[in-house]
Amino acid sequence: MQPTRSAPRAATVSGDIATEEANVDVAAAIRGRRAVRDYTDRPVPDDVLDRLLRLALAAPTGSGAQAWDLVVVRDPDLGRRVAEIVIDGGARYFAINRPRAEGADDEAHAAWARGNAERLLATYRHVPVWVLGCVTPRREYPPEMAQTGPLDDVMSVAFAMENLMLAARAVGLGTCPTTAFWQLEEQRLRAALEIPDDVRPVVLTPVGYPTRFPEGRPPALRNGRPWRTFVHDDAYGHGRGEAADPAA
Ligand SMILES: Cc1cc2nc3c(=O)[nH]c(=O)nc-3n(C[C@H](O)[C@H](O)[C@H](O)COP(=O)(O)O)c2cc1C
Repeated sequence: MQPTRSAPRAATVSGDIATEEANVDVAAAIRGRRAVRDYTDRPVPDDVLDRLLRLALAAPTGSGAQAWDLVVVRDPDLGRRVAEIVIDGGARYFAINRPRAEGADDEAHAAWARGNAERLLATYRHVPVWVLGCVTPRREYPPEMAQTGPLDDVMSVAFAMENLMLAARAVGLGTCPTTAFWQLEEQRLRAALEIPDDVRPVVLTPVGYPTRFPEGRPPALRNGRPWRTFVHDDAYGHGRGEAADPAA
């Protein structure tokens, strides 16, 4: 008899699918994952964190290279240092990317951007865990793969981080995939976490219990395009037909 979702199963193997995670609704984790920027300081238990890390590293990896490393920051002082780097980078990001108020000079715009970063990200200072996904080159790609091989390594890290973020959401933990904020302060991040020169940081995320998960569409996507407009039937440029499942 097929087990139902209402009756969580013990770890078993069914057909060719290992069902250790069978009680987790993947769609709920995908839809419930949101960029969380508001955290409590509640600690993340060791076993919960280890599980997330193991699920992250179960991601697909191009050429089987496993050209990845995860730097896990739990030391509170170091975590706060990471937070300051991200908040400073966030302030720079907002100054660069957001329009300035009418009549605002450089100083006023920078002050606004700093205030915005503080307003959005202040709780990063007490987030219990940060995880930085990095590419660590583990093989020489042949010349024919000189471009694509390293790109595969970056993608593999991104897949691993998505695994981690979904696994986190499934147990009520928040994350926020972060790139631009630390990239604008990359040397400081590298120095703080002792990242070797040949290792490439890719995605950083806080991991912690949120004050709440955001609801509704993310502000940047509120006027976003309907999903069908991103889908091409059979060949690029062939719009998605209305006949497809409307409930998807
Ligand atoms: C590649 C990538 C880079 C991102 N970089 C940042 C970042 O530097 N800072 C940040 O606060 N959010 C960052 N985000 C989060 C996005 O802002 C967020 O995913 C988007 O607004 C959609 O919201 P949602 O994740 O809640 O669905 C990044 C997301 C992706 C996919």
